[in-house]
Amino acid sequence: MNKTLTQYLVEQQRQNKLIPSEVRLLIEVIARACKRIGHTVGKGALGGVLGNQGTENVQGEAQKKLDVISNEILLEANEWGGQLAAMASEEMETIHKIPNRYPKGEYLLLFDPLDGSSNIDVNVSIGTIFSILKAPENATGREITEEDFLQPGSKQVAAGYALYGPQTLLVLTIGNGVVVFTLDRELGSWLLTQENVRIPEDTKEFSINMSNSRHWDQPIQHYIQDCLAGSTGPRGKDFNMRWVASMVAEVHRILQRGGIFLYPWDKRDPSKPGKLRLMYEANPMSMLIEQAGGAAVDTVNRILDIQPSQIHQRVSVILGSKNEVETVKKYFQ
Ligand code: AHG
Ligand code: MN
Ligand code: MN
Repeated sequence: MNKTLTQYLVEQQRQNKLIPSEVRLLIEVIARACKRIGHTVGKGALGGVLGNQGTENVQGEAQKKLDVISNEILLEANEWGGQLAAMASEEMETIHKIPNRYPKGEYLLLFDPLDGSSNIDVNVSIGTIFSILKAPENATGREITEEDFLQPGSKQVAAGYALYGPQTLLVLTIGNGVVVFTLDRELGSWLLTQENVRIPEDTKEFSINMSNSRHWDQPIQHYIQDCLAGSTGPRGKDFNMRWVASMVAEVHRILQRGGIFLYPWDKRDPSKPGKLRLMYEANPMSMLIEQAGGAAVDTVNRILDIQPSQIHQRVSVILGSKNEVETVKKYFQ
């Protein structure tokens, strides 16, 4: 019989002393919320959850109904448990402090409630990404501020994602490797199906939105050209390409069979340092990727070392198989 998420977390808390009980409970609540989001996603047209909400988020992106519903589900589930001081989300301009009617804890939760929004209405895999930080020591007894969230990704206590695809999965790290749970839809429980996930160090598969190629910076142009040149080119091997347009699905594929994912800064909007958001997309994914033996950089710097200056800050992302990420870095040097 597969271990349940609860069993796994209790073991990490008791035997390995890797997480305190607050973090265990927090992860369980997040997982329960993701179960609910997955269920809502699965209803599709029958649940009236497809289509646009008719509003824009702080990033100026049109919100889908499911972006808003998923955000609500996560807020509601995590508000009352007593583990959190505040939350931040792609879909909320400012941080959400725990209301005074509930006890406050010392952790901070960040999330991308629904990643891959453009895939909702076409029934392609989407997900939820989350990151857990500890509030700074000096925050006890005072109001939490946005500054308290601005910690480098290396400070994450835990990170993970739920993937709503043919299977509903929860992929998690608490800093000692990556584990995968599959939702048993009959039992309604998350069961451990993969431990010690390792990313192959080499790969022949890249993942980038090729339609942006004319806007790319020189090093990215060169790197992709060399991949496309195949076995007779400088890389000496034929590459395959995949682009799902859901980062969760892309990262999951890389965790399973290796690969490299790139969403670099480009000249479409030179003032934006990339498309993806550092604190609730790049950081949690980078922690998972590193914990599985891969690498994640913003071109040359380790993403987890970046000191954030804003909760919604964007960043270039290049992550995946270790040796391939090293190869891309060389094109920038
Ligand atoms: P979100 O749906 O949370 O806004 O994120 C979408 C992101 C990411 O998941 C994906 O890798 C990328 O945007 C796709 O971008 P393009 O549509 O530019 O390919
Ligand atoms: Mn996203
Ligand atoms: Mn999103």
